[in-house]
Amino acid sequence: MTYENIIFEKQGDIAVIKFNRPKALNAINPAMVAETNDALDDVEADPTARVLILTGEGEKAFIAGADIAHMVNLSPIQAREFSRSGQDLFFRIENLKIPVIACVNGFALGGGVECAMSCDFIYASEKAKFGQPEINLGVIPGFGGTQRLSRLVGRAMAKELCMTGSMIDAVEAKAIGLVNKVFTPDALWDETMKTARIMASKGKVSLKAAKDCINRGLNMDLLDGCYMESDNFGLCMSSPDGKEGMTAFLEKRKPEFTGEL
Ligand code: CAA
Repeated sequence: MTYENIIFEKQGDIAVIKFNRPKALNAINPAMVAETNDALDDVEADPTARVLILTGEGEKAFIAGADIAHMVNLSPIQAREFSRSGQDLFFRIENLKIPVIACVNGFALGGGVECAMSCDFIYASEKAKFGQPEINLGVIPGFGGTQRLSRLVGRAMAKELCMTGSMIDAVEAKAIGLVNKVFTPDALWDETMKTARIMASKGKVSLKAAKDCINRGLNMDLLDGCYMESDNFGLCMSSPDGKEGMTAFLEKRKPEFTGEL
């Protein structure tokens, strides 16, 4: 399938989706949502895809938000549908069966930071800027920002960002726990790929189990979360990669994970 609003490619076992409307700073419109969903169908159907990276095309932006030109004429019902379509997409990314890294090369505002927060973690360029500026437009975040931001950085910082609409730079985003690592613009891509390759070399079943336990456990009490962890720990033991990892250690060799189920 040919895409107009994203670029979708595979680099070995790493899948890459680049948001590709640089003239509009990669603002998210319904076509971009649909194309990203299509690309995710491909990623899910491809057993050789081990990690997904999301990034933005162009020098300036990861995603500067939902497309304001699209939003301005929406009726309340249409706006709710648009909001749900973005939320559904970001739930899909959050629950994708392989790890997802947000490689934030520039502005990640509104729907952009909401997209990045649905990834497993965020690496950012020193030039990146983050914010939930919807309040400046007289609205609020609509793709999950009020919920994921408060869970990630705490309610007071989330309120300050959502209620002032101010932008923060990558260093501050790292200080509040939104971003894992900050790199120079030149180093960002290589460093993101390096981490992607490390994860791609691990067992598929255990990666998914770690992701599920952390995601789902955050919505459980500690005891239920730990019991879920035990179940997943047991499940990993039954996977070929689980057997291979422990056998390789005992045989003092490097494991060869196949991702077989
Ligand atoms: N929607 C539509 N178009 C956008 C856009 C957006 N979110 N962000 C930028 N653009 C467009 C601009 O209109 C401009 O288009 P033209 O060249 O045709 O005029 C082009 O991208 C370049 O932008 P600027 O000239 O404004 O670039 P700048 O460097 O001066 O400023 C910026 C950059 C600070 C990011 C500024 O573009 C900006 O404030 N953008 C809007 C950010 C925003 O409010 N995002 C939240 C959107 S609402 C949302 O996301 C709701 C939700 O949760 C669902």
